[in-house]
Amino acid sequence: MSRAEPVLARDELARRAAEIRWYHAMDLGQGVRTEGLTDPLVSLPRLHLAADLRGRRVLDIGAWDGFYSFECERRGADEVVAVDHFAWSGESWSSKAGFELAHAALGSRVRDFEVDVMRLSPDAVGGRYDLVLFLGVLYHLREPLAALERVAAVTAPGGLLVLETHVDALWTRRPTARFYAGQELKFDPTNWWGPNPEAVCALLRAAGFTEPVVVSPDSAAYRLSRAGRRAAAHAARWARGRPREPGAWAQGRCVVHARRPAGQLTVIRSLLTEESTSAPSSVTTTRSSIRTPKRPGR
Ligand SMILES: C[S@@+](CC[C@H](N)C(=O)[O-])C[C@H]1O[C@@H](n2cnc3c(N)ncnc32)[C@H](O)[C@@H]1O
Repeated sequence: MSRAEPVLARDELARRAAEIRWYHAMDLGQGVRTEGLTDPLVSLPRLHLAADLRGRRVLDIGAWDGFYSFECERRGADEVVAVDHFAWSGESWSSKAGFELAHAALGSRVRDFEVDVMRLSPDAVGGRYDLVLFLGVLYHLREPLAALERVAAVTAPGGLLVLETHVDALWTRRPTARFYAGQELKFDPTNWWGPNPEAVCALLRAAGFTEPVVVSPDSAAYRLSRAGRRAAAHAARWARGRPREPGAWAQGRCVVHARRPAGQLTVIRSLLTEESTSAPSSVTTTRSSIRTPKRPGR
């Protein structure tokens, strides 16, 4: 998927980039770099994405400024589609302006759809995808299992899901999740869940994925140093009479790869009507597909 020529002159690009509040620090070309809240170049190696994505269709769910979408395009993907809702809808401090400017600056051919995760379907995003990125989104969702079933619905048979998430409850290897009813996690009321890696894998299986593998286990040394840094930060806050985030020592991030079964959909599809093939989660032979959700959708 080659790019077209960028259309903006350098000064104009720099001026417009400076007016935007960016989530992704990224290179827009011509020596212009955005002042993002996060630097995806730090996280990128942990995702273990293939260096060459030729022949793949990629879907980036929760793309925000689009760093990962543009990176997949740069790696030669045949087609890349970026999807977001919350950050693009202007419900918070963010907007779609960063994605749009980066798109123009890079001469990108990435297509985009404004779709809520809970409404993902092949119809809504132009089909099913060989590689699906679901990075930093899971813990923002009130209904993670139902959301993963939607993600499964847009992952092609045999396709790969790369999921990155905040994790909690690292003190146990039983599938466990912490629920943040308020602003316990980083003072952000849009953070709802802190599953541990075992729970992430269990949720993925229940949603119709196979072979979930944690590809980025934090090393013991890294976890120890992070716990030390957090303990120092908590002690400092405590000293100022503003303690927060009890239990943060048991938190981290993890990346999981999982696949959609290659044959399952094909076999079952022959028994289905056109309408039901657009919601494959309802036909997977998982426990989840016969369970009633605990919570109503938002
Ligand atoms: C922490 S950011 C991660 C952005 C990017 N994927 C990354 O890893 O750098 C979470 C993203 O999920 C999106 N998001 C949250 N809830 C969503 C929903 N219900 N539907 C679609 N996108 C959602 C937000 O708009 C935001 O872009």
